[in-house]
Amino acid sequence: MESVALIINLAYVLAAGLFILGLKLLSHPATARKGNLVSAVGMFIAVVVTLLDHQIISYQWIVLGFVIGGAYGAWKAKSVEMTQMPEMVSLFNGFGGAASLLLGWAAISQQTAASFHLLTHFMLITVILTIVIGGITFSGSVVAWGKLSGRMGAKAVIFTGLRELSIAHLVAFFVVGYLFVNDPASALWLTLTIVLALSFGVLATISIGGADMPVVIALLNSYSGVAATAAGLAVGNTILIVTGLLVGASGLILTNIMCKAMNRSLMNVLLSGFAKPVEAGEKIEGEIKIMSAQDAFYVLEAAQAVLVVPGYGMAVAQAQHAVREMQTLLEENGCTVEYAIHPVAGRMPGHMNVLLAEADVPYDQLYEMDDVNPRMENYDVVIIIGANDVVNPAAKEMKGSPIYGMPVIEAYRAKTVFVLKRSANAGFAGVDNPLFFKDNTRMVLGDAKDTINSIVREFGDD
Ligand code: TAP
Repeated sequence: MESVALIINLAYVLAAGLFILGLKLLSHPATARKGNLVSAVGMFIAVVVTLLDHQIISYQWIVLGFVIGGAYGAWKAKSVEMTQMPEMVSLFNGFGGAASLLLGWAAISQQTAASFHLLTHFMLITVILTIVIGGITFSGSVVAWGKLSGRMGAKAVIFTGLRELSIAHLVAFFVVGYLFVNDPASALWLTLTIVLALSFGVLATISIGGADMPVVIALLNSYSGVAATAAGLAVGNTILIVTGLLVGASGLILTNIMCKAMNRSLMNVLLSGFAKPVEAGEKIEGEIKIMSAQDAFYVLEAAQAVLVVPGYGMAVAQAQHAVREMQTLLEENGCTVEYAIHPVAGRMPGHMNVLLAEADVPYDQLYEMDDVNPRMENYDVVIIIGANDVVNPAAKEMKGSPIYGMPVIEAYRAKTVFVLKRSANAGFAGVDNPLFFKDNTRMVLGDAKDTINSIVREFGDD
């Protein structure tokens, strides 16, 4: 019997090792696929070993769930559009939270009248935590999914008494949790906890604007891990504790990276719905200089070193393939082309990396902000494609600006800057951009894809 337990624990250690290796491989685009596969093998081992651990009620239900869930997951993974990825991830988080909630519930509902008094306070507290965090994760993720997919309005929903209602929920969690721990046999406290958790998840997420949803999703991802850890503690499953901790920690790290790159605190994001609207800030002096795509081509034809800075507008215009074509033509013309990727360019982590990978832009030509900023003066031309906030020098120059202090790609220090967008309007942060008024900046107005295609055509005509 002891040797079986040893084998099971060794298999769990192997699975945990594969998860950690998988995470490491996922941290680079070139090895990400392998990382996914390695983690999936780890999960397969963990599932099989848990099933063999004889804690099974009925195999028929497990097989049925596996077939339905696996088929749906495979179909969804194949059919989902790249742009729908954030909402898909949100649903995954939600399912993780729901699974933990159900596990916590099952751990209590399988007890008999005689076995209730054998439950320790520790186990009951972990059950409550599982249900509270799992429930919040589930309903919060469903709201985030609704906002990102356009099924719900993206605006923050704020109503009188929302703050008080949220505080009342927090107090109720403690009161009802205490009552449950003292009287676990009563279904009332458990049911009430589930209802409170689900409604708190909705309240906490509807008050955040759709554009902040990627940060919320990263945070909910972390919650789903914490819920799984609590569930693992409640049912005494080691691998669930380990995986939950890995998910919880990586979600929190990602949330932190996103907040830092936006120069905002997590509290500021979570309470963004209550914040005052952004003020206009000081007026920018100067004149915007507009250039045609044809004139832009003449400058590019003579350039030796070009840096491309993509942003949200490249995703809107779906310009990545045209950008790749332009890159090839520039390189054939003897020019080096590099890309600078800001950590929060676009609307989800890795947004630009994914689009550029789709267009076969080599990974080794993609650089982080901190790599390109020190050598910005060396670039003949920086082409900004639908980016705005991530290149806004107000973050460095204008003390009163809402984005002051945010780390940005310092394109304004290059010899020449081309800004490809449709107007001089502000970006996501709603802040005017002094870059457009700089002496070395030329704006090439229009849809980014159309503009780049025009430049590509000029190369062809040459
Ligand atoms: P933004 O500052 O949002 O600017 C994008 C620009 O693209 C807009 O100013 C828009 O200008 C232009 N645009 C839109 N459609 C276009 C088209 N078809 N052709 C050409 N241009 C087009 O984008 P960014 O610089 O990538 O910055 C991202 C922002 O999102 C940051 O403020 C960041 O904090 C925030 N954010 C990011 C994330 C993540 S994880 N990436 C999550 C939440 C929030 P026109 O209308 O004039 O064309």
